[in-house]
Amino acid sequence: MPLALRTLIDQGFSSASFESGGASVNKAFLIFFGLSILLAIGTAVRFYCVAWLGERVMADLRGAVYAQVLRQDPVFFETLKTGEVLSRLSSDTTLIQTLIGTSISLGLRNSLLFIGSLSLMIYTSPSLALVIIGLLLVVVLPILLMGKRVRLLSRDSQDRLADTGALAGETLGAMQVVQAFVREDLESRRYQNATDDAFDSAIKRNRSRAALTAFSITLIFGSIVFVLWLGANAVLSGDMSAGLLTQFMLYAALVGGSLGVISEVYGDIQRAAGATDRLLELLESEAVINSGDQVLILPNQAANQDCNGVTVTFNNVSFNYPSRPQEPALSNLSFSIAAGETVALVGPSGAGKTTVLQLLLRFYDPQSGEICIENEPTRNLTLDSLRGAIGLVSQDSFVFSASAMDNIRYGNLSASDSDVQQAAEYAQADSFIQRLPQGYNTYLGERGVRLSGGQKQRISIARALLKNPPLLLLDEATSSLDTESERKVQIALDRVMSGRTTLVIAHRLATVVDADRILVLEQGKIIESGTHTELLKSGGSYADIAAMQFSTNDQ
Ligand SMILES: Nc1ncnc2c1ncn2[C@@H]1O[C@H](COP(=O)(O)OP(=O)(O)OP(=O)(O)O)[C@@H](O)[C@H]1O
Ligand SMILES: [Mg+2]
Repeated sequence: MPLALRTLIDQGFSSASFESGGASVNKAFLIFFGLSILLAIGTAVRFYCVAWLGERVMADLRGAVYAQVLRQDPVFFETLKTGEVLSRLSSDTTLIQTLIGTSISLGLRNSLLFIGSLSLMIYTSPSLALVIIGLLLVVVLPILLMGKRVRLLSRDSQDRLADTGALAGETLGAMQVVQAFVREDLESRRYQNATDDAFDSAIKRNRSRAALTAFSITLIFGSIVFVLWLGANAVLSGDMSAGLLTQFMLYAALVGGSLGVISEVYGDIQRAAGATDRLLELLESEAVINSGDQVLILPNQAANQDCNGVTVTFNNVSFNYPSRPQEPALSNLSFSIAAGETVALVGPSGAGKTTVLQLLLRFYDPQSGEICIENEPTRNLTLDSLRGAIGLVSQDSFVFSASAMDNIRYGNLSASDSDVQQAAEYAQADSFIQRLPQGYNTYLGERGVRLSGGQKQRISIARALLKNPPLLLLDEATSSLDTESERKVQIALDRVMSGRTTLVIAHRLATVVDADRILVLEQGKIIESGTHTELLKSGGSYADIAAMQFSTNDQ
């Protein structure tokens, strides 16, 4: 284009041109137009391809990070808030998408433009170009140094942004507590403070970017203006034609403009580098709990007969949670459960009952001792086969924002509708689900907000039963039910408990009187064990609790 312009200026208005009826002017403008079309097509193709690339990278990155996060063990989630993970999944990946989809494209285009115009500049006037190049080399160094600072500030600002997400996520999940305690003002102030922090941090980052931009524009254009001044003097002294200087000037403008954009893209890259650090942290975090390589073989599996439960052994197990190294949650715990046996764990709150289940599922590994299923240390088993053999009804029953059908089917994705209904009947959930507006297809709300506590519990029981596992773990599974429903669930559970090993945790002793064996846990130690009658007779702490519970029940 600059060449076309030069031709126009130096020859287009010459007398020869007037004689030929402006043919060269027409030609120059035709070239202009043709080049514009080429530019348009090139720009469109570049935009599309690069935007596609950006979107694809973002989608792949999200998938990879999420898959990695799902493999982490509970310790990971004890330290990193879920809101923080969400923020990294959304805002950090978006930043990288912007970089690749827009800035990189701009950067590429401007690098080509820079190289092209610089070469042509050298071609048009080597002496002037040399001066410009020399000046630019001096200019680039401070720009690179300032970029480092932008990167650090960017990381900080993404962290602050994540804080606001984590805060809002937690508060919105506990709306009723917030409102019941009239803490709306407190919460909105907390959120405002967090957003203000994020704002301050973002402003700090932008200030340093603004400085970077001003700095680079001044230096870049300063050098160009200086060289043009040299050129103008050359035209005045007749060493250069006006057309040539115009051509050179256009190249110089392109060089300056593209360098300006490149320096801004450099700022973007530094910013995205901060986000990338945060994503890489997630991608590189390794789970502490590693899967073993042996597949759990259930008894009778080879003979294709029904499994009658599995044996479970705790061998001198001592454990403390990683965040409480001084305080043992379980100490030297030893017991074993025969296949098909139902064992109850009772004891005061905080005794370590839930901890026993968490170790069985290998959410944590004990510091010493060994846990075996079918005489195979659980450490050696693949996590899939170990957890696949266990049905868990946890202390706080979780219901997903989906239909009742989907929620129960979560236990066994290939179960038929009638299997799901059967499991619901066992869990005493069928009748209330039938009464919901759309029956099994009723949407249960986020975290099952549209259900009562006891209903949620029965959904989780149905889910665990549908899995039909050889080892069933019930953690206060019927604690939110009334006596009548609890009794019914109990009868159904007794039916399904036959043919599998069951470990029940309950505070209400009425739930556990029929267990084959009862283990009384206190401060991570087993202090008594036996059947209900044996324990009553021995007159220990179980007998005390029983005396209290059954006497109040009798009144
Ligand atoms: N993730 C954790 N990090 C640190 N300590 C924990 C963690 N979970 C539980 N604890 C502690 O371990 C101890 C045993 O907890 P556990 O949940 O096993 O009690 P529990 O017997 O199930 O009580 P409850 O009947 O109230 O459910 C408690 O002192 C508890 O504070
Ligand atoms: Mg518990």
